[in-house]
Amino acid sequence: MGFFSYLRSIFRKIGISFQDLGSRYIENSTYLCSKFQNVMKMKNFTLILMSLLMVCCTKDDEAKAATVQEAGKTLVVYYSYTGNCQQIVESLTAQIQADVMRIEPADKTQKYEANNYAIGTQLLNAIKANPNDAASYPAIDPVSITDLSQYQNIIIVTPLWWSQMAAIMQTYLFNYGSQMADKHVALIVSSHSSGISGVVADAKRLVPDCTWMGDALWINASNHSNRTSLIQDWLPTLNFAGKQTTMSKMYITIDGQTQAVTLVDNQATKTLVEKLQQAPVTVTLNSSGGFEIWGALGFSLPTSNEQINAQPGDVILYNGSNICIFYGTNSWSYTRLGKIDGLSESELRTFLKAGESNITVTLSLSNTTGISNVRSNSERGVFYTLNGQRVENPNKGIFIRNGKKVIL
Ligand SMILES: Cc1cc2nc3c(=O)[nH]c(=O)nc-3n(C[C@H](O)[C@H](O)[C@H](O)COP(=O)(O)O)c2cc1C
Repeated sequence: MGFFSYLRSIFRKIGISFQDLGSRYIENSTYLCSKFQNVMKMKNFTLILMSLLMVCCTKDDEAKAATVQEAGKTLVVYYSYTGNCQQIVESLTAQIQADVMRIEPADKTQKYEANNYAIGTQLLNAIKANPNDAASYPAIDPVSITDLSQYQNIIIVTPLWWSQMAAIMQTYLFNYGSQMADKHVALIVSSHSSGISGVVADAKRLVPDCTWMGDALWINASNHSNRTSLIQDWLPTLNFAGKQTTMSKMYITIDGQTQAVTLVDNQATKTLVEKLQQAPVTVTLNSSGGFEIWGALGFSLPTSNEQINAQPGDVILYNGSNICIFYGTNSWSYTRLGKIDGLSESELRTFLKAGESNITVTLSLSNTTGISNVRSNSERGVFYTLNGQRVENPNKGIFIRNGKKVIL
């Protein structure tokens, strides 16, 4: 018998229903005591009440834990005047699942760099003179996300101006920093060459009560072109709240050309990655509808279907066992798997052989021709091409077998 059934049976014995408990006990606890005193000693009553309280607390705590676990959403907030921070955000969001919000100044005619950066200097001096006065901060456009309660992680991406945080981002944080008090917050700063300690100090002043996730990442003119790998190395140092936010990669090979796919974090991709850890998977896909190539995977993955407006580059699971790779758009109930990195729509059409049929597509976890995957393959003796495609009856050429190159 469960604990609640047990309690119910005791209450029934003494003539109290659970409804009774809910309504009457709160209004008048002596009512209950008098009923109980008739049948059991006060000691027992206290014991039961304590147990009941413990069960309620445990249930409540479990509910809270579940909310925290399920949440873990990340928001990337950025400002960019000359485009560097925007590029940083593009590299960042290719690697993590996040919503993105760009901050815009209300006055878009300002040339912050004019007259030896005079306007930028003026704006920063005004903030420095009166940092607690809202009037010191330059006006910004209304932001698209005003309620941050759905986010647990916030990543701020900002330019450095005169060794401080760009004034426009300071306005945003002055207005919304207090909403970040219970959040995990990280900072990426882009400068030409100046060190970022002043920007970190501004961030701490404007967002005083958050939990900072690791050290700020500094990207400057000399390493901006390496931003993807800088971010890749930095992300694991962060202590993201809630569920795992970073994503992993898969590779798609068609006709000898390999493209990386950034995977989203869900049960389908976890299962797919487990499958690909054993060996690359080669499927035959066909063009359809003028927007995708698709076909059977040959196995099923867990679904979490939702209405998705698929975009060029999206890699999607359809009906649990079909993979669709998009070069156009289509709205349907799908499970998202990931997105092909960095190809334009026309490059995607070429890569995916849009319009063609019987396209051989290999999915793998290695962009180095699948050799590492073959090594871990339990089906020893199977031949693979250098592109990781399984070959049933190999003819002449170089193949991978049991993790070693062989020439037939
Ligand atoms: C008003 C202003 C002041 C700047 N001051 C500095 C500075 O003191 N040191 C530095 O290394 N870069 C400085 N920069 C350059 C920016 O920090 C750098 O170009 C950054 O990458 C710009 O990011 P964005 O392209 O996203 O706007 C300044 C830029 C502006 C517009």
